[in-house]
Amino acid sequence: MDKLVIRGGKRISGTIAASGSKNSALPVIAATLLAPDGNFTINRIPDLQDVRTFSNLLEYLGAEISFADNVLQVSTANLKSVEAPYELVKKMRASIYVLGPLLSRIGHTRVSLPGGCAFGPRPVDLHIMAMEKLGARIVIEKGYIDAQVIGSKLRGARIDFPISSVGATGNALMAAVTAEGTTILGNAAIEPEIECLCHFLQKMGANISGVGTTTLVIEGVDRLHAVAFDNIFDRIEAGTLLCAAAITKGEITVTGLNPHHLDAVLKAFAEAGCTVTTGFDSITLAAPDKLKPTDVTAKPYPCFPTDMQAQWMALMTQAEGVSNITDKIYHERFNHIPELNRLGARIDIRENQAVVHGPQVLTGTKVMSTDLRASACLVLAGLVAGETTEVLRVYHLDRGYEKIERKLTALGADIERVKYQELS
Ligand code: EPZ
Repeated sequence: MDKLVIRGGKRISGTIAASGSKNSALPVIAATLLAPDGNFTINRIPDLQDVRTFSNLLEYLGAEISFADNVLQVSTANLKSVEAPYELVKKMRASIYVLGPLLSRIGHTRVSLPGGCAFGPRPVDLHIMAMEKLGARIVIEKGYIDAQVIGSKLRGARIDFPISSVGATGNALMAAVTAEGTTILGNAAIEPEIECLCHFLQKMGANISGVGTTTLVIEGVDRLHAVAFDNIFDRIEAGTLLCAAAITKGEITVTGLNPHHLDAVLKAFAEAGCTVTTGFDSITLAAPDKLKPTDVTAKPYPCFPTDMQAQWMALMTQAEGVSNITDKIYHERFNHIPELNRLGARIDIRENQAVVHGPQVLTGTKVMSTDLRASACLVLAGLVAGETTEVLRVYHLDRGYEKIERKLTALGADIERVKYQELS
């Protein structure tokens, strides 16, 4: 098992390119199941554990995949299974993304229920509701979703989501693109990762209008074809790197991504006293001497993203006052708080709100990762903590960050990956 050993106190400064986005790559890879022939070439795919897990699932289903230098080559012409097994789905809940494409392509699939994760139950009822509206019969048995198209193919429908769901929007899109007739998705998620999926499906031949809005209209087509495609860049990785500069009083430029994908986060950085400038595909942040306490509330896009909530909390431990951090999406996404407090932070939890008392001097020690963004939060805290911080179980971090310690080293951090054995 690996840990990251961080000697804090170094300024993070310089220019770094963002990696491809994990949360658009996963549905895009799932959507390759929709093309019965041809070879996909997908660029800017990040080399992450979640991407490899998803690729393993597609190979289990019969896809042919090769992955090198951030380029994924996929052919799903010869599918041989319609089952997404528990052993793979349990590793990564985004495996549920095969539900829509397999129903659309094959008409039947068995997908293991993904179960919960470190910060809550993570239900999939909206995914199931959407498939039933499109004409699938769903039976939940023995921990599996058994889905079967009633009749010859899915039929277009109006689907109004009671809450904004990135995953359910993605699954409904991938089921609707070759359904019979028109599908309307109301209260659809508008995250950039969903917009990216729409562009990918359109390039494959899908007929989707309203892209970028909460109402998507899909006219079913008979056939989709394999294409070459450029994935978008990872706004959450970029936001995490910006936090690294802000917490160490540094200055950084992150290149590649559309800065508007982080508008709410850039606004929060500015409120905290950072100087933020943007170019066509770059963001530059210069940290102030003193950070101002800044409240944030995590809500669906274009609001402050829940995937940046833990990272923001690490930053606010250094602000000159009290900051309130609320998560309206995952009310229990606070496993990083006890570990931050072990580093010397002073953070209280009141229901789905954390109250961060700053500034607190942090002192390095061993801390335990519990989930992907919590581990990023602990790395950020380690960059500013005195002495040495050891972030354990960084397999959580490796799910969503590509070579993060190399990127931070290039920007001036004293950080290294070390193998270790856990005391049993
Ligand atoms: C996606 O998860 C992201 N994962 C998550 O990022 C992100 O935190 C989340 O969207 C919110 O932005 C990927 O894209 C692979 P949701 P997803 O459906 O699709 C509830 C990371 O760190 N809900 O938008 O699973 C749900 O419980 C990960 O990269 C239902 O009630 O999230 C939550 O409260 C973590 N029923 C809210 O909706 C459902 O059927 C939003 O969830 C589905 C969701």
